This record gives sequence, structure tokens and C-alpha cells, in this order.
Amino acid sequence: MKIAVLPGDGIGVEIVAEAVKVLRALDLKFEMEEALVGGAAYEAHGHPLPESTLKLAKEADAVLFGAVGDWKYDKLERKLRPEQAILGLRKELGLFANFRPAICYEQLTHASSLKPELVAGLDILIIRELTGDIYFGQPRGRREAPDGAFAGQPEAFDTMRYTRPEIERIAHVAFQAARKRNRKVTSVDKANVLETFQFWKDVVTEVHAQYPDVELEHMYVDNAAMQLVRAPKKFDVIVTGNMFGDILSDEAAMLTGSIGMLPSASLNERKQGLYEPSHGSAPDIAGQGVANPLATILSAAMMLRYSLDQEEAARRIEAAVKDVLAQNLRTADIYSEGTTKVGTKEMGDAVVARLK
Ligand code: NAI
Ligand code: MG
Repeated sequence: MKIAVLPGDGIGVEIVAEAVKVLRALDLKFEMEEALVGGAAYEAHGHPLPESTLKLAKEADAVLFGAVGDWKYDKLERKLRPEQAILGLRKELGLFANFRPAICYEQLTHASSLKPELVAGLDILIIRELTGDIYFGQPRGRREAPDGAFAGQPEAFDTMRYTRPEIERIAHVAFQAARKRNRKVTSVDKANVLETFQFWKDVVTEVHAQYPDVELEHMYVDNAAMQLVRAPKKFDVIVTGNMFGDILSDEAAMLTGSIGMLPSASLNERKQGLYEPSHGSAPDIAGQGVANPLATILSAAMMLRYSLDQEEAARRIEAAVKDVLAQNLRTADIYSEGTTKVGTKEMGDAVVARLK
């Protein structure tokens, strides 16, 4: 098993170091190789995603990614900006399934924007399709409206589309993920209005025939947005298209409190994946040793689960994180009165100590 370790910029360097420490503490056999990405790679090689970094990522079973970006690169032309590295990796690795778990840890229940009783024990997984939908559909553009009440007026248009294979593969991913959880999938669509999502619903229903042990429910996206804040614990796995997933995953993230706790994964058909915290490089606190490394440590746990087939090790890390929170250790972003404030390194050390 080979892991490409790409810390990137800002706090990426600090938090990835802690995740690597945690991985090493597991006594599993894998090789980890580090490379520059983002602004760090631009400084050294003049490009945010050098060939050598891309090659390492392609050869690895999984990529552990920190974060990229800094305000000082804002004036660079778009293709040299640090953010291009992550877009390039997604494209080159063919990553089509984005996993975002929303877990509300018992000790952080008060940090949620919802009432504690609604989120206590929350553990749901949003799976967003990444390659299709209205974000990439052609044709798109601007023109003079050819018809309608405003014919002749300037207009803009995009095209929503999904091919059968794109829906099939994300549906398989969702049903398989549900098997490792509570065996329930909610497929979110807008089949009542959109042909694309009637097709989505039909194909997901077809694929479901191969997973009789998993419950499938269909829900319109407007209702799903409502249910997520009304009774989020009723969900287990949510699978949806690119745009609905973009919106619902941010909504679900806020149920859990802090961005410093949220891991993510993006997978391709070979189960090769890129694992990263949901937050960015946090230039405002970079280099101070105060960033929360738990989102990255939990991303490493997802990597063990989804790309390296080490479910047991993944659960060990997740349990260690819960224990550390139960010990009342907190980085600044999740600190509250009566708890013990620790830095990035101390938090990583505490997780390692619990693992042992
Ligand atoms: P950000 O997520 O980096 O920071 C937002 C706020 O959350 C900041 O106040 C930061 O200090 C705090 N924060 C983030 N992660 C934290 C952690 N682990 N522990 C404690 N506090 C944490 O988003 P922002 O400020 O909008 O962007 C900063 C840079 O990051 C930009 O250059 C942006 O383009 C880049 N970015 C990169 C991403 C990636 O690498 N995938 C994703 C999002 C932003
Ligand atoms: Mg978003």
C-alpha cells in the first residue's frame, strides 16, 4: 500500500504532520512518500501541480492532502494558482464520488447551530457526484434569447445532464457505503420537475435491485434541505448529483459545529482516493501551531476505510478521536470554558497516545 502525502500550504503542513504520526502509530505496512503541492510547489518548481507530484499521486493507492492557497498568490494567473492543484488532481485521477460525513461528537453538541437534541449522536454521510450535472453540461453560454416573452434579450444558459454510467457508478458507491453503515440510502432528486433527475431516480432504482439488503428512499431536494434541519438523524447515506450535493453537504456540515472537525474523501472507480479536510489553508493561523488536526486525522481514517480496506484501523482512529474529546482536550476552534486548550501537536500526540 502506497500513500502519497501532499501537505500543501499554510496549516496543511502542520495538520498533515499529525495525521502521518497517527498513521505510523497503527503498525500497518504502508509506504508514505511526500511531495510538494500548491503554493509550496509553485515556490520550488514554478507550478502548483508539478509532473513529479502528479506521478506520485497516480501511482499511489491513496493521496493524503492538506490544504492549498494563500492570499499572496491571488495575483497569479489562474493556471498557476495553488487551487489549480486540487482541481488538476481531481481531474487526472478521475475522482467522481465525494464523501462528506457529518458527525456530531457528543462533546461538541453545543457547537451546532441546531438544538442539541436534534444533533446529539448525528452520523450521516453525504455522497456527491462530482463529474456531471449542470456544472459541466454542454452547451452553455450567453446569447440572445431565441424565444419566450423576452425573445431578443440577452440571456445565459447551462445544461443539466447525466449519463447512465455516471449515475450507475455513484449509486453502486452509495449502496456499498451503506452496507458498511446502517443500510439506508436516501437518493435526493428533483424528479417532479427535471428530466435529468427522473432519469437519475430510475437508474438508482434499477441499481438498487442488486442491493436488496439496503433500504432505498427517494426524496425531492427541497424536502431534503428541510429534513436536514428538522430531523437530520433520520438519514444514513444521502446520494445526490453535483449541484444538490454541493449545497446539501455545506448545510449538513453546519449541523456539526466546527470546520476543523470535518474530513472528506473523493474516490474513483479503482477506489483510489484523495483525502483532505473540508477546510482550507487558514493563512490567518498558519505557523502558530494552533490549527485543529482532527479533520485531517479523520480524513486519514476514511482513507484506511475506503481505499486501503482497513476498516478496523479506521474505527480505531475514530474511537481515539472520540476519546480525546472525552478527555476534554480542545484546540482553539472548538474550545469552550471548562475544557483544556491544546495546540496542533499536543492534539496529535493525544490521539497517538489513545491508539497505544
Ligand atoms: P479556511 O477554511 O482556510 O479558513 C476559514 C476560517 O476557519 C479561518 O478563520 C481559519 O483560521 C479557520 N480554520 C480553518 N481550518 C481550521 C483548523 N483546522 N483549525 C482551526 N481553525 C481553522 O478558508 P478561507 O480562509 O476562506 O481560505 C484560506 C485559503 O485556503 C484560500 O487561499 C483558499 O483558496 C484556500 N482553500 C483551500 C481549500 C483546499 O485546499 N481544498 C479549500 C478551501 C479554501
Ligand atoms: Mg461548496
